Amino acid sequence: MLQFARRVGRAKPSAIMQVAENAKRLKAEGRDIISFSIGVPNFLPGEHVYAAARDALAHDSGQYGSNRGSDALLDAFLAHIAQVGLSGYTRANCATGIGAKHVLYNLAEALLEEGDTIAFPVPYWTSYLDIAEILGANVELLPCPASQDYKLTPAQLDAALAKKPRVFLFNNPSNPTGMVYSKAEISALADVIARHPDTWVITDDIYNRMVFDGVGYHNFVHARPGLRERVIFVDSLSKTYGMPGWRVGFMAGPESVAKAVVTLNSNHITNLPEITTAAAVAALSGPQDVPQARCAEFQARRDQVVAAFAAIPGVVCPRPQGAFYVFPDVSVAFGKTHAPSGTRIGNDVELCNALLETKGVACVPGSAFGEPRALRISYTCPAPQLAPGLQRIREFFAELS
Ligand SMILES: Cc1ncc(COP(=O)(O)O)c(C=O)c1O
Repeated sequence: MLQFARRVGRAKPSAIMQVAENAKRLKAEGRDIISFSIGVPNFLPGEHVYAAARDALAHDSGQYGSNRGSDALLDAFLAHIAQVGLSGYTRANCATGIGAKHVLYNLAEALLEEGDTIAFPVPYWTSYLDIAEILGANVELLPCPASQDYKLTPAQLDAALAKKPRVFLFNNPSNPTGMVYSKAEISALADVIARHPDTWVITDDIYNRMVFDGVGYHNFVHARPGLRERVIFVDSLSKTYGMPGWRVGFMAGPESVAKAVVTLNSNHITNLPEITTAAAVAALSGPQDVPQARCAEFQARRDQVVAAFAAIPGVVCPRPQGAFYVFPDVSVAFGKTHAPSGTRIGNDVELCNALLETKGVACVPGSAFGEPRALRISYTCPAPQLAPGLQRIREFFAELS
């Protein structure tokens, strides 16, 4: 009988996409749906990005390009990360990929043997688990519930690294929680990492330009420059520049790691397309007014969403300081019944289904991120939908008994 490789059986379809599909189906049936589900920024990049793409099209060489990324793109990335204090890297420290997801996949492929352990905090971005499972790695989950603001403590990290996982994967600001580690918190975690030299550290910091309240973005390498020997920083154009479909991601880290990713690129993708590259250079080096304006807008929306959940009795809603997500612990609803529809709410998936069916609001169940007591709100919907969507959620909770 014809067989598939075992790794395919370990890959699961994305739970987030399933919610989005349900919402799309109801919309097609004519229902008034407000979607808080997909993590897309919902804005377009500035005109200069399109102008650069059109110009590249006019001068397209049609040739294969560099497996690492063009010099112009690597230089634009280096200048970009120097603005957040990640300086002293050269082109040899960097590599590009088809989005951060592809870079993360390449890194996992480069660093993990089958059976090696990768440790990361819960809640986690869904693909971390899926990538690890496809590659046959062991996953060590480090639970960070709402009661600790969804943040990893130095003691937890110390205990995890004492077991010498091959890779520790960290995400700041976080998807799904929106939480941002302060300078002091990063410094304390960096001290722990410095004591455990046997583990690679990947910091997936693709939301590093979307930080609110003046808390700033901090990296282990800022706190302890010596860690750049084994810390790998991952970045992306997707969220910051409103370019998720353009598929441009980056890494900066040790030369040996960048070289391994470039080798994988040479076998997977060869190169980023010329037109995409030109658009990416323009996004990184051109005017920054669009991303800056959106960041300010997202901060104001964060306030609106947190205020809405704070007004619901029993819901615990840590206050995010970045990205565009809020991740309230809604377990107070479990075991209750939504009176108008007679629906009993046993868990996060049933809660999200009932919210969608009865109120037309799509959210993602927290179990997609390893935290079944919560749900994720992505608040980048068209502005006029935000307040009505939140109002519908408040009504839903008020109707539980
Ligand atoms: C934490 C995190 N890392 C990586 C990615 C992947 O980004 P990209 O679009 O660059 O592949 C996402 C996208 O949602 C994300 O939230």
